Amino acid sequence: MMKRFALVMSLCLAPSAYAADDVVDVWKAKCKSCHGDDGKAQTKMGQKESIVDMSQAAWQAAESDAEIRQAIADGSPRNTKMKAFKYKLTAAQIDALVGYIRTMKAK
Ligand code: HEC
Repeated sequence: MMKRFALVMSLCLAPSAYAADDVVDVWKAKCKSCHGDDGKAQTKMGQKESIVDMSQAAWQAAESDAEIRQAIADGSPRNTKMKAFKYKLTAAQIDALVGYIRTMKAK
């Protein structure tokens, strides 16, 4: 019984699974309030600030990874509501967020 529990625990803590959980946690804690669970920005702030729907194929195609990374790291030059996260997140976390935003692309 304990052996099985230990096995399940070690599977949960495998590095790749952990990284995926980690980025979702960061998104929920720091991004979701404005951008929504799915990046569609169907939130109060999203409506007020007309935040773009990141799931749109056109948006995904227009933005390079570098542009997305820069918006997260340095904030938006057009809207101060989008703050610079480089002081609050590590470079690895920001890279993971870029990857996570890519998974939001509408199918
Ligand atoms: C307080 C609300 C708020 C929070 C929290 C927030 N954002 Fe934003 N975000 C915005 C707004 C407003 C814009 C639109 C900026 C603009 O129009 O230039 C934006 C824009 C962006 C863009 C660029 C969109 C574009 O078209 O250039 C990215 C990428 C982004 N946010 C990612 C994130 C990530 C990742 C997080 C969490 C670490 C986050 N945001 C947290 C409000 C927020």
